[in-house]
Amino acid sequence: MAEEVIIARETHELKGTVQVAGAKNSALKLIAAAILGQGETTLENIPKISDIDIMSEVLERLGAHVQRDEHSLHIDTSSVESFETPYELVTKMRASISVLGPLVGRFGQARVAMPGGCQIGARNIDMHLVGMQVLGVEFAVDHGNLVATTPNGLHGGNILLDFPSVGATENTMMAACVAEGTTVIDNAAREPEIEDLANMLNAMGAHITGAGTSTITIEGVPLASMHPCTHRCVGDRIEAGTFLVGGALLGGPVTVQGINPSFLRMALTKLEAFGCTVEMGDDSITVSRTQPLRAADIQTLPHPGFPTDLQAQFMLLASLAQGSSIITENVFENRFMFAAEICRMGADVQIDEHHAVVTGVDHLQGAPVESTDLRAGAALVLAGLAAEGETIVRHIEHIDRGYEDYVGKLRSLGANIERATIESLSAR
Ligand code: EPZ
Repeated sequence: MAEEVIIARETHELKGTVQVAGAKNSALKLIAAAILGQGETTLENIPKISDIDIMSEVLERLGAHVQRDEHSLHIDTSSVESFETPYELVTKMRASISVLGPLVGRFGQARVAMPGGCQIGARNIDMHLVGMQVLGVEFAVDHGNLVATTPNGLHGGNILLDFPSVGATENTMMAACVAEGTTVIDNAAREPEIEDLANMLNAMGAHITGAGTSTITIEGVPLASMHPCTHRCVGDRIEAGTFLVGGALLGGPVTVQGINPSFLRMALTKLEAFGCTVEMGDDSITVSRTQPLRAADIQTLPHPGFPTDLQAQFMLLASLAQGSSIITENVFENRFMFAAEICRMGADVQIDEHHAVVTGVDHLQGAPVESTDLRAGAALVLAGLAAEGETIVRHIEHIDRGYEDYVGKLRSLGANIERATIESLSAR
């Protein structure tokens, strides 16, 4: 298929309401969790993004049947009998590693291709393995595949994570659901998506308490007692935050609908620090700005700290703010690639290891730029709307991984934006 690009042109006003889709970083794990219950699970509010298609394919390769009905997925895992995931799918999407815990839970074994790194970092899985080893899982590496076995069965244990890793918390929690005895995960990740996953697992028959806090306790239940369920995925806080930054950038008011404001407390606090007005409803957030953007410092941390997935978007805000902002990236070792692209548009960003000093400029200039990861890509599109002239964003497949109809939603807010094939550009 011909490469597509996004053409973003100078836009003076972005205002209106967008409906937030279901959270990519929850939905992917909810799909994996369906493995633990034999029968048809229905997941609602599942975004139409390419990562979901890949995870659905992973489950189908395991023997499940996945049928999409608009924003619902019907996943029948009755005939899942394989516990191997193919390399070509795992390399497409490293989040496929989330099937490891459920496969070990259901089969007592798994063979999952080792996920590679990606642009933002090595993305190791050592904490996943250490956590599951406490539960009695033994690992070996066989030609790029991680082979998990449970020679003495799956039993509960006390896990202390080095770092509150989202993936490690999820994999160990899913395996612990059907381990014999009690498991306690200390220094667990506290992201809202962890709580969403725990709520689904409990609806399937698991006994999990403490999800959303640093200490999660799982009372193991027999595998046979786990059953399918119907579960609605929470709204995507990162998609919501991305559109709120668009409103902050161009003045708004922009409202995001279908999101629990408590998921974004730190990001909303920072929007106010940048000079914005934030109003919260039960499941909506509105941002507007009438005064110039002012500099503010940010450091990314595990939830409830500032989300690393909004770091690029806020670097864009800082690039047009009065004064200098210091942005510290504490979660990934290489997540400043966005800076190089936005400097091509006239921003002033100095990188020093995991600090970025962003000195605001009066305006950005449109330019051809490249998405390096889905969040940087989404931020580059917003930069193009704020910049003078025209910005061509390439490698937008990254954006399509995590944003459903990004162009359509921005257009509904008044953005001067379109998708085009790269060939049509040369024909202009
Ligand atoms: C999840 O990744 C998200 N992805 C990421 O979102 C998000 O940035 C991240 O959590 C942090 O919030 C999905 O949920 C699919 P981690 P995950 O385990 O689980 C290191 C996006 O843009 N680490 O909390 O991989 C790791 O390398 C994506 O939607 C180890 O060293 O995040 C990273 O530096 C990007 N060993 C840090 O910890 C391990 O065993 C945080 O990783 C596990 C992690």
